Amino acid sequence: MNAPEKKIGKPMNRVDGRQKVTGAAKYSAEYELPNMAYAVLVGSTIAKGRLTGLDTKAAERAPGVLAVITHLNAPKAPGIKPAGKDPSQPQTVGSALQVLVDDNIRFNDQPIAVVVADTLERARFAARLVQARYAAEKHLTNLEAAKPNAFLPTQAKKNPKSPTADYQRGQVDAYKTGALKLEAEYVIPTEVHHPMELQSITAHWEAPDRLTLYDKTQGTMATRRDFARQWGLPEANVKVIATFVGGAFGNALHSWPHESAAIIAAKVVNRPVKLMLTREQMFTMVGYRPHTWQKIGMSATADGKITAITHESIGQTSTYEEFTESTLGQTKMMYQSPNLTTRYRLAALDIGSPIWMRGPGEATGAFALESAMDEMAHLLNLDPLEFRMRNYTEQDPEKDRPWSSKFLKECYQAGAQRIGWNKRQLKPGALRDGEWLVGYGMGVGTFGAHRGSSKASAQLLPNGTVLLQSAVTDIGPGTGTAMTQIAADTLGLAPEKIRFEWGNSDFAQAPTQGGSAIVNTVGPAVQEACLALKDKLRELAAASNGAFATAKKEDITFTDNHLTLAGNPAARAAYADLVKQAGGTAVTVESKPSGEGQKYSMYSFSVHFAEVRVHELTGEVRVSKLVSCADAGTIVNEKTAGNQMKGGAVGGIGMALMEHAIIDDRFGRYVTKDLADYHVPVHADAPAVEVYFVNQPDPHVNALGTKGIGEIATIGVAPAIANAVFNATGKRVRELPITPDKLV
Ligand code: MOS
Repeated sequence: MNAPEKKIGKPMNRVDGRQKVTGAAKYSAEYELPNMAYAVLVGSTIAKGRLTGLDTKAAERAPGVLAVITHLNAPKAPGIKPAGKDPSQPQTVGSALQVLVDDNIRFNDQPIAVVVADTLERARFAARLVQARYAAEKHLTNLEAAKPNAFLPTQAKKNPKSPTADYQRGQVDAYKTGALKLEAEYVIPTEVHHPMELQSITAHWEAPDRLTLYDKTQGTMATRRDFARQWGLPEANVKVIATFVGGAFGNALHSWPHESAAIIAAKVVNRPVKLMLTREQMFTMVGYRPHTWQKIGMSATADGKITAITHESIGQTSTYEEFTESTLGQTKMMYQSPNLTTRYRLAALDIGSPIWMRGPGEATGAFALESAMDEMAHLLNLDPLEFRMRNYTEQDPEKDRPWSSKFLKECYQAGAQRIGWNKRQLKPGALRDGEWLVGYGMGVGTFGAHRGSSKASAQLLPNGTVLLQSAVTDIGPGTGTAMTQIAADTLGLAPEKIRFEWGNSDFAQAPTQGGSAIVNTVGPAVQEACLALKDKLRELAAASNGAFATAKKEDITFTDNHLTLAGNPAARAAYADLVKQAGGTAVTVESKPSGEGQKYSMYSFSVHFAEVRVHELTGEVRVSKLVSCADAGTIVNEKTAGNQMKGGAVGGIGMALMEHAIIDDRFGRYVTKDLADYHVPVHADAPAVEVYFVNQPDPHVNALGTKGIGEIATIGVAPAIANAVFNATGKRVRELPITPDKLV
């Protein structure tokens, strides 16, 4: 193990890049098992009520059909309880809605039958022959209409310290008595994750009590736990494989109806069953960012000090599950306001449950907060960057304790310089480029630097390579690559000699990939496993060669498939011999947070600067330049981290200008049902995004110094664009997306 140059921080290419671009990478719908059957879901056509009749005869007689499964003939999974009345207590742990268990309809397109056939085409054909009759009840799918019945989440009722409970510091609603104040309402529509890869699963009962799932999931262990419980099996009897995941953005953080249906179908036909959702089904049953109303009241002194903020929000949830997110979290800690009030409420609609979507909650909240900051700066006739600087916090005003690290000021400076903030005019509408009005805006983001517990295993193989394994998934950020770099540096080994395997619930325990927490959490586990492996090799060498027994740890080097001792040519132990001698070298470690999270407030920070051009006549908005700056601690891989920042920024452009899932309330059904109607940014919509990392290690989150990137890449982008549109046009759009009709 020659000590090669440090890999952490380097823009190393993805270890799986070749597999991905050549098509060798296998996604969950690409596993071909012997004797496979194909399942297609039939969805309800009403949003609320009961099924009163199902005619499945024609479908059963259709060619190639193996089974038509409904609640009338589906086997009952022993872990499923009857539907409860309390949506804060989901039907089964971890999987909120069970399908094919009763005649209740809770949202439009809820699966009411699953048709299994010998080919996908035959299953699809037969699915169209299933006829259902309903006793429809009056449904509610409109947030505005549901707002009067908004309620405090059960978790907040039970625990006043819950993040969704009402929060107060200083005086209640103090902004109302402020000399200089603003009050504004902000709305974001429902947005849907829409990763490129459709949700899919292949369920295989290898024995009556042994289940293997090739599944699109962000958490192999969470999925294993959910379905083991559902079927009353020991977790060891369920195996979940998710080696490659083609994006997710949060929509595979939860177990969903189609997974339950595929497992039931595989049980019934006693063959492996593959089920892949259609793009239309991706709207209806695998979550979304919830339609949310917010109101901000803010007051400030004439010299630009915030005196009070009140931030309220009402977010959509389903009738059968209380989905909550941290919409108001950023407001509590971002600025030094002595008086602060937040109120978080939910409104239940007859639509499937939401689920966290990139920068969950905070991205929604930051749209309101950072828009309001811009509005207040305008009222004060102050530069919005200067206004933020005057309210900068050197310690957490919510918890009253120091930050573990905070380099947001450095981000402000770097971003302002790169976007050319000095070109920005205080007066809106003052800059133009031909027919285009030009404007500049900024938006700040933050997200907790979360670290959980994780295991990792490492073993030296006789050929001198090291194999690491973790159950963690890699949904695109390049986890496998980052872990390889961490291992390479810890072992002093070239990355080519390391194989990091992931995405299998049989591997060492790891959390679900989400919440920007994976490098923070699995990174230290990999690091510690590599250190343990070195200790083990030193011990083995000491046992076989006395020279190693008395040597100092730091004098032993790992090089050329041997352990050697500086200045002692006789001290030489071959890896192959050590492996043989030990009968294997596998070590598994568990890595846990240090507990410093009690002393420090740990957050990643970002700021996004946007330059937009708004066409004066058509109202078309083009983002002409975007600069995203992040304080995310140590950057393990400049390239993959930069990719994440760019991806998050493009997601923010979608949020600001395009994404809008529209429901026809008469039917409680989406009218945007494909990517032709539901717009996401394409290449032509995205400028070159410039990324800047402060790249200063955080001394408290973990030994690597990382804080997490995934969420802060998006949080704050949408308000940066909205603020730039205001600066260009003088028009303040408080309801996303900012479509041309709102500007002309
Ligand atoms: Mo993300 S919303 O933590 O997948």
